[in-house]
Amino acid sequence: MRVLVTGGAGYIGSHAARALAQSGHEVVIVDNLSTGHQYLAHGFQLVEADIADSNRVRPVLSNVDAVMHFAAHAYVGESILDPAKYFHNNVRNGLAFLDAVVQARVPYFIFSSSCAIYGVPSTIPITERTLRNPVNPYGSTKLAFEGALESYGPAYGLRTVSLRYFNAAGAHDSGEIGEDHTPETHLIPLVLEAAAGRRVLDIFGDDYPTPDGTCIRDYIHVSDLADAHVKALEYLVSGGKNTAINLGTGTGYSVRNVIDAVEHVTGRVVPCKVGPRRPGDPPELVADVTLARELLDWHAKRDLSNMIETAWKWWSSNRMVLAQTT
Ligand code: UFG
Repeated sequence: MRVLVTGGAGYIGSHAARALAQSGHEVVIVDNLSTGHQYLAHGFQLVEADIADSNRVRPVLSNVDAVMHFAAHAYVGESILDPAKYFHNNVRNGLAFLDAVVQARVPYFIFSSSCAIYGVPSTIPITERTLRNPVNPYGSTKLAFEGALESYGPAYGLRTVSLRYFNAAGAHDSGEIGEDHTPETHLIPLVLEAAAGRRVLDIFGDDYPTPDGTCIRDYIHVSDLADAHVKALEYLVSGGKNTAINLGTGTGYSVRNVIDAVEHVTGRVVPCKVGPRRPGDPPELVADVTLARELLDWHAKRDLSNMIETAWKWWSSNRMVLAQTT
């Protein structure tokens, strides 16, 4: 199939593009390169355009069989400071793009959603039926777009899967692509920077109601996420119903667990200090991954060590000059 990947020059989209190509699909990327990087889209047709630019997007849509929609702003903290930026891009521009998809009669649509739609869940693990109650504008925009898909699907005959990612981490086995955010706010790359002697890691609170007091997350390898997108497309093509699916490993790790794992993998000490909680951080987010297994025949194959190993390989060869820490 020929698949349009929006945001294919971003972290998760670029891995999905490679997974699609590996499965024999043809990929065309639409990315405005506002946060993406041209080198991440290397090897694919790249249309440098905004998703809301229908004059540029329509000709691409006229010639594809499916869409994977990754393009979005994705900083939780920024979304609190500047919600308009998030609603304009993730919802308004997203809807303009979705209208163009419907008009072009592209049958299959896979959406990059987030566990941020659940907010602070009352029970763990989180199933797809857990109350959706986002606690930040980023999560609200993802939920709003999911809502549009739920309505558009039956009304316009669009076949959709929303994939709710937990904490994406790791890098491609090839070492060619990985996480390249500016600024970087995610835990694992920041712990690696600390291991490389480039910063002291701030642990955002150690007084949470968890065994070691630090927040627990369900880290999932970006290549496992990418494979799930290919499976979701196969699911829709084989007649699967419109749905939303959690993508995680089902296992939670605390901030301290991650630091320990990084020290183990890199053989370096991670300098860190405990600071105050970061506003809006839920104590624990861990996925129930039963539905992904049932509907997609998918489960995460890589563990936390592999996420750290691949991220470390990519970061140490691409992003930083290692400093002595021990
Ligand atoms: N953390 C630190 N120090 C840091 C950075 C992070 O202690 O310097 C902690 C955070 O407090 C959190 C954990 O590490 O407990 C993970 O933080 P990340 O920023 O890596 O990821 P989040 O869980 O905040 O964010 C992820 C996704 C978002 C999604 C959100 C839903 O990256 O896209 O989950 O809550 F919206």
